[in-house]
Amino acid sequence: MLSREFPDGELYVRVPTNVSGKTVVLVECAGRRPNIALVEALLAVKTLQRLGAREIILAMPYFPYARQDSEFSAGEAVSVREVAELLELIGVSSVITVDMHLHRYSSVGELFRRIKAVNVSAMRELALFVHQNYGGGFTVVAPDEEARQWASIFAEEVGVPYIVLEKERRGDEDVTVKGTLSVIGKAVIVDDIISTGSTVVSVIEKLRAAGAKDIVVACTHGLFVAGADAKILLSGARDIVTSDTVPNPFARVSAARPLADGVKMILDGELYGFS
Ligand code: R5P
Repeated sequence: MLSREFPDGELYVRVPTNVSGKTVVLVECAGRRPNIALVEALLAVKTLQRLGAREIILAMPYFPYARQDSEFSAGEAVSVREVAELLELIGVSSVITVDMHLHRYSSVGELFRRIKAVNVSAMRELALFVHQNYGGGFTVVAPDEEARQWASIFAEEVGVPYIVLEKERRGDEDVTVKGTLSVIGKAVIVDDIISTGSTVVSVIEKLRAAGAKDIVVACTHGLFVAGADAKILLSGARDIVTSDTVPNPFARVSAARPLADGVKMILDGELYGFS
């Protein structure tokens, strides 16, 4: 698919191949361009349909708008629900994503009622990479209860323990992490998303105060807004490792395998074991 932005910000999309009668996997990278990605998906899906595609599997490695999953203050959009409904309405046959921020929804199936949806994880790949490159003997640290799901997969893959802290967020960059820590020499902080880096920096400060000497940070989706990566490294992390769902300088782990497995499950009609 060809896509470019016109000088006024509108998008141009073209499907230059014959898709008639075919099953198409449309890969849409939302990353730090969530609004563009949604319009791009709309234009691409409608074009693929007009050109006769038989089935359109939308692979969105990073699913945007997932964190606004409730009406926290009166009148707010419940963005994740609306985005899911939009994708259903434009007519994609199924959606696949990686480590979606599922907090108030227990599975993607709860969000997508009319089409198949699959959420795969890159946590096993991240864990193996960290273990191979930085050695074992670490404790996995989840910043909050939501991150337990990712920390537990990560820890299980390489046979290490994990702990879960408590996070209090007062604003976009105003975060405090609480919880009791016994002395941890070596730690790997695991989360789904790093955006401003405030969560991770707060965990690093807590770990350092508890005596941690060696801290690596791992996440699936590295958005790194407003110099978040520099902030994390300056606060004392040895390194950052992310998957490649969002292009960034720390994306050293490929999410292609879990994505391909998920697409295969959709094509084979075997969704058992996926959320
Ligand atoms: C939200 O709860 C997510 O799991 C991440 O912890 C969050 O998005 C990180 O954001 P930031 O890097 O801005 O603290």
